[in-house]
Amino acid sequence: MSHCEGCNGCSVDEKVVLIAKKYISVDGGIIAALHEVQDEYGYIPESVQKYLSKELDVPMSDIYGIITFYSRFSLLPKGKYSIEVCMGTACYVKGAEDVLNTFKDELKIKEGEITKDGKFSLECIRCIGACGLAPAIVINEEVYGKMSPDKVREVLSKYN
Ligand code: FES
Repeated sequence: MSHCEGCNGCSVDEKVVLIAKKYISVDGGIIAALHEVQDEYGYIPESVQKYLSKELDVPMSDIYGIITFYSRFSLLPKGKYSIEVCMGTACYVKGAEDVLNTFKDELKIKEGEITKDGKFSLECIRCIGACGLAPAIVINEEVYGKMSPDKVREVLSKYN
């Protein structure tokens, strides 16, 4: 663990220190740094955002803007299996809300949460470009289309 000078005890591990060093004098390096952090932790913890903000001299509001703009970045930890339910227009019209609610009921979590065993996390995302398969979901890198409440249970059983 390493502490950034002058901050009130936020701490990051050595990997983050190295990532910051790598991009400290690279123009626009913050995005590349955030990619590395996302790959390393599966999300971008607030303590890391603060550290990168200070080291790379990028305002926290800009970092937050980048993280929330790109769907690849996450502010929350993800489960071993990260379930993303597309809530884009085509999916919404074809029943994405029922799909989302079935995941919530089956996993006993809300969107943005992670199951107690850390196995599943649930999030809503924007269009993933698979509108022909609406309603669509993504679990880790795998896309599942034509979802329905029954198919939610079927898909979940693959991971249980
Ligand atoms: S709206 Fe869901 S894939 Fe396009």
